[in-house]
Amino acid sequence: MPNPCCTSERRARPIRSRLLETPTNERHDHVVLVVDFGAQYAQLIARRVRELAVFSEIVPNRITAAEVAARRPAALVLSGGPKSVHVDGAPSLDPAIYDLGIPILGICYGAQLIAQQLGGTVGRGRRGEYGRATLHRTGESAVLPAEAPTHHDVWMSHFDAITEAPVGFTATASTDDAPVAVLEDETRGIYGVQFHPEVVHSPHGMGVLRRFLHERAGCPATWTMTSVIDAQVDLTRARVGDGRAICGLSGGVDSSVAAALVHRAIGHQLTCVYVDTGLMRKGESEQVVETFRRHLGIELIHVDAGERFFARLAGVIDPEDKRKAIGDEFIRVFEENTGGLVDAEFLVQGTLYPDLIESGGADGTASVIKSHHNVGGLPEDMRLTLIEPLRDLFKDEVRRLGTELGLPDEIVWRQPFPGPGLGVRIIGEVTPGKVRLLQEADAIVRAELAAAGLEREIWQAFAVLADIRSVGVMGDERTYGHPVIVRAVTSDDAMTADWARLPHELLARMSSRITNEVDGINRVVYDITSKPPGTIEWE
Ligand code: XMP
Repeated sequence: MPNPCCTSERRARPIRSRLLETPTNERHDHVVLVVDFGAQYAQLIARRVRELAVFSEIVPNRITAAEVAARRPAALVLSGGPKSVHVDGAPSLDPAIYDLGIPILGICYGAQLIAQQLGGTVGRGRRGEYGRATLHRTGESAVLPAEAPTHHDVWMSHFDAITEAPVGFTATASTDDAPVAVLEDETRGIYGVQFHPEVVHSPHGMGVLRRFLHERAGCPATWTMTSVIDAQVDLTRARVGDGRAICGLSGGVDSSVAAALVHRAIGHQLTCVYVDTGLMRKGESEQVVETFRRHLGIELIHVDAGERFFARLAGVIDPEDKRKAIGDEFIRVFEENTGGLVDAEFLVQGTLYPDLIESGGADGTASVIKSHHNVGGLPEDMRLTLIEPLRDLFKDEVRRLGTELGLPDEIVWRQPFPGPGLGVRIIGEVTPGKVRLLQEADAIVRAELAAAGLEREIWQAFAVLADIRSVGVMGDERTYGHPVIVRAVTSDDAMTADWARLPHELLARMSSRITNEVDGINRVVYDITSKPPGTIEWE
């Protein structure tokens, strides 16, 4: 089920870590485990590995040698992290992991950890290096790319530095403040780089990862969207057999791609349910029906439930009451319309990898993650087995997959949209009239953004209808209308966001079109609040 509108707990909430749950090698031949010593570093490394067509997964640093061995990974990458290896309680690695014979690349903190745990020396309280530095190659290297010049730029961010490599290791490069900037033990297949190869400011960084993965760890570049589709199709067929699955479509990217993928695997054994709450964006419902029913030939139950939602929302003003009302109604409608599918045993959900990744702690044990809207609203008594074909993927990978599956750009590049829809973008009571007004204003905001070519740079851009009125003048007439608030934000993950610095001419076009074309709107304002302290949505 896509969205059940997240009752009152829409903000970040803890969920149980599921990262250690699945033995990955049943699904992928060559898995690289990225050991997390600092969430944001680990995610970037995991993505870079995948860009080199090798599947990667992030694991918490408390993982044991036995757990690593059970997963039979092709290689390990130890991420950077914010701590010093010298402080009490600094995260480390189960030392038995070094004896598993699995190739290891340590990055920054990861490199220092290798040095420290295997008997070298990490100097403390040195000057540190932050930003660009020049790497000097001092010996033959098995991980620095051949094409990287003897002296080249790298990106550094460290305070301590390795001063002595452990026995068996050779130092093959240095910088002014890092005497051992690269250390290598080719016999054991263990390598460390003090710099950050995963960032774009290290121009030969991808070359380091490429050499390590393809040459040292023997991972072929075979992980592509086509291979993901093939693997998921096989897996889904095997799990579902001749059973039936249902999928709640929200019109958003994740549930759409999940549905298209599962449909490719089991065809008519999948039934999709699209609940039109009447609170959707302009033209959205028509497009969902057109794409899924006509274009993809997917069996789709389209429930036009707007009237029910409006009746339920009459007189409701408090934001949390509104969310709860919409959420409850959604589940009721969903259940009523899947009641006929008594033999369905499986529920398809568009859960993504970031939904499962822990974040917020250098030790990888903190468990506050992005609000998990999809799971949040599932009816408790639903006895369906979950199918989550996108649970290994990042958002941009899901988009690529969607395109590969033949979904149109309008769906693949659709902005995130809250489960309660325009209901939480109308301040005060929600009525059909206000929804129509907001749909028009919102469509103008999005159309102008697209015309300016900024659609893919902006995380979300939309209109909000305020519950106040102001005086204006049109022609010779005094007006007393509603203002529309335009909200446009940039973000990577919706956890934090900044207001988008949209060009003034673009804002001017939005403003004049909205006031001219949408009856009842006589003023447009632009929201210049970041998150925090604001949230992206207004309610
Ligand atoms: P906030 O407003 O909390 O939103 O900064 C963060 C992101 O989540 C979306 N959002 C929701 N998505 N159900 C959803 O599926 C919801 O109830 C919900 N509330 C907010 C919001 O659009 C933004 O992308």
